[in-house]
Amino acid sequence: MLRDDALKGKTIIVTGGGTGLGKSISRYLLQLGANVTICSRRQHVIDETAKELMAEIGRSNVLGASVLGGDSSQNDASGSVLAVPCDVRNPLEIENVMAKTIEQFGRIDGLLNNSAGNFISPTERLSYKAFDTIVDIVLRGTYYFTLAVGKYWIENKIPGTVLNISTTYATTGSGYVVPSAVAKGGALIMTKSLAAEWGKYGIRLNAIAPGPFPTKGAWDRLFPEPLASLMDPTSRIPLHRVGEHGELANLAAFLLSDYSGYITGESITIDGGEVLMAGEFSHLEKVTNEQWDEIGKTIKQANKESKKE
Ligand code: HXC
Ligand code: NAP
Repeated sequence: MLRDDALKGKTIIVTGGGTGLGKSISRYLLQLGANVTICSRRQHVIDETAKELMAEIGRSNVLGASVLGGDSSQNDASGSVLAVPCDVRNPLEIENVMAKTIEQFGRIDGLLNNSAGNFISPTERLSYKAFDTIVDIVLRGTYYFTLAVGKYWIENKIPGTVLNISTTYATTGSGYVVPSAVAKGGALIMTKSLAAEWGKYGIRLNAIAPGPFPTKGAWDRLFPEPLASLMDPTSRIPLHRVGEHGELANLAAFLLSDYSGYITGESITIDGGEVLMAGEFSHLEKVTNEQWDEIGKTIKQANKESKKE
């Protein structure tokens, strides 16, 4: 969607950038000229992804922290990937990601809080630890990383941008994913609150609320059998399909770019209209034209009778 060098000169950290949506967005940010640091807990996963993405853009030398010290001619590093392991629940590991990013690319301009943990379960079956695990990754991880990067931006007078990957149920709530809903809801309010507070520094914060976009991470934990056979996520989506990663990457790149410079504190839903199905009468797609003819006649007849009363 954006022109090829739309993010040239920008450096963006993507949490959970080794898999799923984080990987797809990282790929597009790179194509647009950004330097991207991907981080998550599993080092081998981010290293593999960094290698794959570098190969795709025709570069062989991976800048991963674990393999640093390679080709110093890459210090101009425009449009490169750096992989640094990090558990977003640990502030020291977050600070290490930032230090390695600044060392490699000179500065940080954007943060994509994309890491998450989630699984489907009746809430009464959850242990305290299970609830904590999700909230800690999604909410604590998001505010730790945002706080660390925000302090750096304020101190260095950099008008940075945060983009948080939310969910549509951050505002509606949802059964069976309650820790995730609680945490995503909290992160969304943080997005809006800090957008108000840090606007004076030129810092913008926005969110994206995706509907279903197939990834192994989400599908293994939210649509395992027999759930997958019981529910078709596309059946309640007005556009009758799941999202494509490129569609989400377009929106993310726009919100991380200067083209969205006057948008802050906003959450943009990208779900094929799924949340609209909460509308009282939005589920009537299966009513046939013949049935509508019949319904029309019945209503008109009732109108006539009420006029006589
Ligand atoms: C009940 C469960 C459980 C389950 C784990 N636990 N799975 N309880 N039902 N299905 C409990 C464990 O028993 C343990 O509690 C506690 O949770 C922590 O589990 P661990 O395995 O020790 O945690 P950890 O190794 O840190 O793994 C975290 C994880 C895992 C969240 C459980 O799934 C993970 O690594 N996920 C990361 C990727 C991810 O979730 N991607 C999906 C994002 S999709 P006890 O008390 O027994 O010790 C998304 C939105 C999708 O967010 C929206 C779609 C439309
Ligand atoms: P995914 O591939 O499982 O992505 C989750 C990522 O988070 C993984 O790369 C994982 O890597 C990382 N992560 C988990 N715990 C972490 C921790 N403690 N520290 C650092 N990183 C951690 O799933 P996805 O579908 O792409 O999800 C990406 C984002 O989109 C999430 O925020 C999710 O809530 C959101 N979302 C997805 C959908 C969908 O339909 N797919 C819909 C709405 C919202 P490690 O295991 O290596 O740490």
